[in-house]
Amino acid sequence: MPIPKSEAGKVAYALDRSHVFHSWSAQDKIDPLVFETGEGSYLIDADGKRYLDFSSQLVFTNIGHQHPKLVEAIKAQADKLCTIAPGHAVYSRGQAAKLITDHLPEGINKVMFTNGGADAVEHAIRMARLHTGRYKVLSQFRSYHGATQQAMNISGDNRRWPNDYGAGATVRFFGPFLYRSAYNATTEEEECQRALEALENTIAFEGPDAFAAIILESIPGTAGFMPPPAGFLAGVRKICDRYGIVMILDEVMVGFGRTGTWFALDHYDVTPDLVTFAKGVNSGYVPLGGVGISDAIAATFAERAYPGGLTYSGHPLATAAAAATIEIMEEEGIVDNARHLGEDIFGPELEKLKAKHPSIGDVRGLGAFWALELVTDRESKTPLSPYGTVNEQMAKVLKACTEQGLLVFNSMHRIHLTPPLNLSDEDALKGLAILDAALDVADSFYGA
Ligand SMILES: Cc1ncc(COP(=O)(O)O)c(C=O)c1O
Repeated sequence: MPIPKSEAGKVAYALDRSHVFHSWSAQDKIDPLVFETGEGSYLIDADGKRYLDFSSQLVFTNIGHQHPKLVEAIKAQADKLCTIAPGHAVYSRGQAAKLITDHLPEGINKVMFTNGGADAVEHAIRMARLHTGRYKVLSQFRSYHGATQQAMNISGDNRRWPNDYGAGATVRFFGPFLYRSAYNATTEEEECQRALEALENTIAFEGPDAFAAIILESIPGTAGFMPPPAGFLAGVRKICDRYGIVMILDEVMVGFGRTGTWFALDHYDVTPDLVTFAKGVNSGYVPLGGVGISDAIAATFAERAYPGGLTYSGHPLATAAAAATIEIMEEEGIVDNARHLGEDIFGPELEKLKAKHPSIGDVRGLGAFWALELVTDRESKTPLSPYGTVNEQMAKVLKACTEQGLLVFNSMHRIHLTPPLNLSDEDALKGLAILDAALDVADSFYGA
């Protein structure tokens, strides 16, 4: 990307390149865009160029950029009380916890707040271990749960490899994913049944009394947007009950309306014991995550101290932002709009693009949460970029989007479309038109 032309932009770029160490990156190979402000579904760079944000950044600005009511709520809390230790009570924290649990399944009435998603996962696992007195944890390949030690260890994608010291008592299994079935299945029913059988066999051979928790993303996110078949999560629930295992659903990416329901678990008939969340809880305006805790697990720590905490657990600015975000989502029908976007625009329009562009191997998603698998051959399903990489060809497709003012979320050979949930129909179609043109670049590599 070109270095900004404006003086302010040049300074911001130079400061970044001299002093900021970027996550997940080879420091000398990156060229970050400099942004100055945002407005709804748009970000505006240092030279005034407008970008339609179909990424919601790292899938967190669920109500868009600079929502005036949310900015106001943060300012109001800052005027009153910027910060307070977690041991005290403060209205914004209690109010946020109530609003969050109001939208979680019955029987989940308490929240432990964290600073983000990974530490929410760490605490959920710690709670499960202390509650059960067991140690092992089951997780899926094709999953991501965060970049702290334990969260990374249970993550089932290539980001774990350079961070893996073989510890953590984690056992991984293949979840259902019909497009690249690990079970040679030909229908969703078969895939579901075989994945559940494989899970139960794994438990049998790893020790039925050994497992503290099974952790799953309700719908895997960065790993590829794979809505599980009907019956899978309910089947996992039954297995958890059979063996006394705590069921943790990770809603960090898919919670707070992303898939057209308050939580992605609402698409399935399932009540987990612990739910982790972050990102959309306050549209990412102030860092916040947390764990929704079932009454039974909360009771474990009624008389016995929970051995864990964080200096900023339930920070007033973050929780005031969460309470305001949830109220705005309710008032403005934002979850309904996400459902409408999926059913009436992204679903049908992406199917049209698939019919037109051979490089689209598969389209998956719901609500404002869609993934395109780009391939060089539909029959063999060869990814445009090999597993764990973003190669030159894929980079060219992404560049074609950015140059035309569309920001998308990318993972390996996939394009993920995760716009703000209050995106207008007009902007949805505008972004899809830019994507359509960029897919011509992907087609040029088809069959190569
Ligand atoms: C499903 C899931 N869990 C956990 C995390 C980790 O969250 P954080 O980066 O806030 O620590 C992520 C981040 O993308 C995620 O997608």
